[in-house]
Amino acid sequence: MIKRAYNMSTTEKTVLTVRELPKSNSLNGRTVTFHSDIVRKVSDYTHGLHDYPAKYIPQIPKWAINYSKLHPGDTVLDPFCGSGTTLVEARLMGIDSYGIDINPLARLLAKAKVTPLCSEEPHSLYKISTDLLKNIAADKDTKEAERYLNLHSNWRYWYDEKTITRLAKIKYNIENFTPSIGKNDKDAENLKQFFLICFSSILKKCSYFDEKQIKVLRSKEKFKAGISDPYEAFKKALNSQVPKMVQFTNKCLETPSCEAKIIGNDAKSIHLPNDSIDLVVTSPPYINAIDYPFAHKYNLLILGLLKPDDYRPHSRDYIGVSERVLLKKTYNDIKLTGDAEIDFLIKKIYDVDKIRAYIMWEYFTDMRTVFKEVYRVLDKDGKFIIVVGSNYIRKNYVPTHLLLKKIAEKEGLLPNIKFFHRIQRRFLGIPRNHTGGVIRDEMVAVFKKA
Ligand SMILES: C[S@@+](CC[C@H](N)C(=O)[O-])C[C@H]1O[C@@H](n2cnc3c(N)ncnc32)[C@H](O)[C@@H]1O
Repeated sequence: MIKRAYNMSTTEKTVLTVRELPKSNSLNGRTVTFHSDIVRKVSDYTHGLHDYPAKYIPQIPKWAINYSKLHPGDTVLDPFCGSGTTLVEARLMGIDSYGIDINPLARLLAKAKVTPLCSEEPHSLYKISTDLLKNIAADKDTKEAERYLNLHSNWRYWYDEKTITRLAKIKYNIENFTPSIGKNDKDAENLKQFFLICFSSILKKCSYFDEKQIKVLRSKEKFKAGISDPYEAFKKALNSQVPKMVQFTNKCLETPSCEAKIIGNDAKSIHLPNDSIDLVVTSPPYINAIDYPFAHKYNLLILGLLKPDDYRPHSRDYIGVSERVLLKKTYNDIKLTGDAEIDFLIKKIYDVDKIRAYIMWEYFTDMRTVFKEVYRVLDKDGKFIIVVGSNYIRKNYVPTHLLLKKIAEKEGLLPNIKFFHRIQRRFLGIPRNHTGGVIRDEMVAVFKKA
């Protein structure tokens, strides 16, 4: 999995830190390190509720909102919101926000992260969580519980029998929980959403999945040492996440009318009026690098967010799609974009790998559609901030960041500043470049509508 983490140890003179981030264009071309420990930890508030591949750090949307000088009443959009980092930061700053993501787990997670709980009395979440844990401990009815897991046929490969029974009981009790506190059905729904995400956060830990890999592999160590007990893991998840949710809810009470909403599932078709957004900040998917549905396949199935038969067709709809799910008839003939630089690369790659040539064509074609939509929904003074790096595809260097910048400009977005932020990917089990796992830079480019 990609972890966007920080390089704390760099001594390079050209690297700016977050303390120095200027308000003007003097960032242009520089390299910036957003130091997590200076401002806040990356898992503060609800940011650490659940893992998600290629999350960006909260300091980036926070910087973007400050740089764009947004005020309460302004609105931010993240069309590839993933786990909701942008929405959480915007909510903490009292700025309204919208998010879009194709991944149903991302949408549920982002919603859970931006929904304050028990606003009348935030501390009551402690008692509610304890009640839920008591119900789970008292539940002896195994058969009934097992209906609540939508398991894939080969689940025994990933989970043992005892674990699956316990997971089933946890899910059953969340689904059937009636909180003692909570004024209406909406409160109960929101609590359920939060508990389901806490439940989802333990699914990999309690399985034989190698959590260090983006590729879905069985961990030899876990197979020998055994896997975490679901009851203990769930209790631990609540113990660490409930205080953070209470902290988040208390912070939200300072700006009660502020909203954060998930408004759709396709960045190519944004259901918002023209000129309605003050800032779009996002990190789009990379080309053929991270298989988002695959990374959380069992979470999607167990939570009932996807039916097993829909898994492959759903996976084909992602921008930057994985080669594993494509149908031969889609990629047999070469497809070109009309941009000489991109088409040169597509032709080179087509000679050795038809699937990846198609994936490249589709990626840049879809991203152009997204940029058209971004241009349409941005207010005339609005800003578009994109965070993206480069790829290697079949050993060919693909300057994805520069090609996307060029497409954005063609769609009418005016380049303002561009700088690089330094990131460290700790476990990079993905075919991204020759130097997986080492420090790399990602481009942060700012565009204006007019
Ligand atoms: C780099 S991740 C975003 C991570 C996010 N910034 C965070 O902090 O969690 C890119 C996201 O794009 C989503 N995605 C891919 N195709 C999409 C599409 N057509 N519309 C909306 N989202 C899409 C993926 O599901 C993934 O969550």
